[in-house]
Amino acid sequence: MSKLIEKMNQALGLELRAINLYAHYAAYVKGLNRIQLEPMFQQEANESMVHAATIRNAIVKHGGECVTIRDQMVIAHTTDTREMLQAALATETKAAEVYGELLPLLEEISDRELYDAVEQIYLAELRSVEEIRLLLD
Ligand SMILES: [Fe+2]
Repeated sequence: MSKLIEKMNQALGLELRAINLYAHYAAYVKGLNRIQLEPMFQQEANESMVHAATIRNAIVKHGGECVTIRDQMVIAHTTDTREMLQAALATETKAAEVYGELLPLLEEISDRELYDAVEQIYLAELRSVEEIRLLLD
């Protein structure tokens, strides 16, 4: 398998994991924080679904086979809001790291459209990192 397909599959696995993580925390977030965090977690789950679709289509386009199993990084069950946000921060940080590694690989092939799409995802992950950092402050 090429390095590009491998890296895209790593990103896809992480998005599949993020969908589960955010949907789980949206269901369990309690107390007054629920007012803001339930919609935020739902939105992050939806965003991860959109990112997954973009990467999946890119893998197909480049002749690869998409993973169907999520990344194995543990999703810790908790009802503690801070722990949820810490898990979210770790998730977004890892995603930003992997998309950051994917971009140079896309620069090598000439697929400008995909490069731009992945760059948008990368920037969205970085925004999420900053947003969650502020929530934890
Ligand atoms: Fe994402």
